This record gives sequence, structure tokens and C-alpha cells, in this order.
Amino acid sequence: MFIPKFECAEGQTIALVGPSGCGKSTFLNLIAGILNPSAGSIYIDTTEITSLSRAASAAFRLSEIGLIFQEFELVEHLSVGDNVLLPSYLGSQKDQAVIEKRAKDLARDFGILNYWDALPESLSHGERQRAAICRALSARPRLLLADEPTGNLDPVNKEKTLELMLSSAKEHKQGLLVVTHDLELVHAFDAVIQFEEINQHGQK
Ligand SMILES: Nc1ncnc2c1ncn2[C@@H]1O[C@H](COP(=O)(O)OP(=O)(O)OP(=O)(O)O)[C@@H](O)[C@H]1O
Ligand SMILES: [Mg+2]
Repeated sequence: MFIPKFECAEGQTIALVGPSGCGKSTFLNLIAGILNPSAGSIYIDTTEITSLSRAASAAFRLSEIGLIFQEFELVEHLSVGDNVLLPSYLGSQKDQAVIEKRAKDLARDFGILNYWDALPESLSHGERQRAAICRALSARPRLLLADEPTGNLDPVNKEKTLELMLSSAKEHKQGLLVVTHDLELVHAFDAVIQFEEINQHGQK
């Protein structure tokens, strides 16, 4: 079987585009170590994540990867602030005060600081989406994986959110993979990967 090679360098920003159902979310879940491939290997730096145990994979994901899910996946019974800080609570970061200040600065940048103590259910879809992005960025992961992170945003917030993600990637040398259906946005990325639908017989 031919398995194409895919690479993302430090600080490189890549847009992933393609029709619904072609496997974009599946691809992000594979890179995050949430799913295991039936063939091939995935390395993040020198770590072969496809050979890690479930526990080691979860620990690696927590410390190295920021995930922005298509359905946000905020924890409904935690406040927005606790959601944003959750990766740092679960991880081994030492200076919680520094992380909290950074997280609040991000929340201000993303326009959701007023909702810090609110529960996610009281936020609009777009505000929840921005909270999910803050959560992923606040832990300063080496790799950011974002599944349609601007899908629920108005044009102004869309542009601002994308700009914040792209500048974070460049400033902190994070790899950034963004799934998007929004072809107007892709010019801002270093590279664009087009996924194609393949049927069950392996044909395009
Ligand atoms: N857990 C699962 N079990 C079985 N099949 C799945 C599962 N998740 C996704 N699929 C199938 O895999 C294919 C790819 O799904 P995926 O969610 O990766 O698509 P996508 O490109 O992200 O689509 P969209 O743009 O609509 O989000 C689809 O045909 C889907 O039905
Ligand atoms: Mg998807």
C-alpha cells in the first residue's frame, strides 16, 4: 500500500482542506494519538507516538499537543476559566501563576475574559469555540491541531482568531495544522494540503 509522507516543521502553518467525510478529523485524531493507524508510523520530533501505550500517549498529548476539537469538547460543569486552565491543572507545569496570567491575557485577546467564571452553557457557540482555542494555546504546546476552529465565528472574529493562532505558531515555533472549509483563509498559511475522498475500493 502506498502511504504518503506528511511533515510539519517547527513554526510551520498548514491548512488541511477537502470534502466532508474525506478524513480530515480522523487525520488530526491520528496525529494526536487518539486513534491508531492500521499502517504507517507517526513521529512528533523523535517520539514515535504510534508505538506508545495509551497512558504514555495521553501524557505526551497533554504536554506537547494543543487540540481544538470540531465540537469544542469543553467540560460543561467547569467554568470557562477552569476549562482554559485544565491542561495546566492536569500537567506538570510548575508556575501556575504565570500560566494563569497568560491564559487570562489570551482570554482577553479572544474576547471571552468576561465569561471567565461562567459555565460554557451560557456562552454562544462562537464564544465556546474561542474558549476551546484559548485552552489549547494556554499550555504553549509544540503542536497545535485545530479542527475547523473558525467554523462558528463571524467574519471579524474569524480573522482575528486565525491571526492569533498563526502568530502564536510563529512566535513560539509551534507546528499548526488547521482543518478548514473556508478557502478564503488558506492564503494565510505556509502550505495547503488538499485531501481527496477515496471510496471503499481505494478509488478517487
Ligand atoms: N468512529 C468512527 N467509526 C467509523 N467510521 C468513522 C468514525 N469516525 C469517522 N468515521 C468515518 O470516517 C470518514 C471520515 O470522517 P472524518 O470525520 O474524518 O471526516 P471529515 O473530513 O473530518 O469530515 P467533515 O468535514 O464533515 O468534518 C467518514 O466516512 C466517517 O463516517
Ligand atoms: Mg471533521
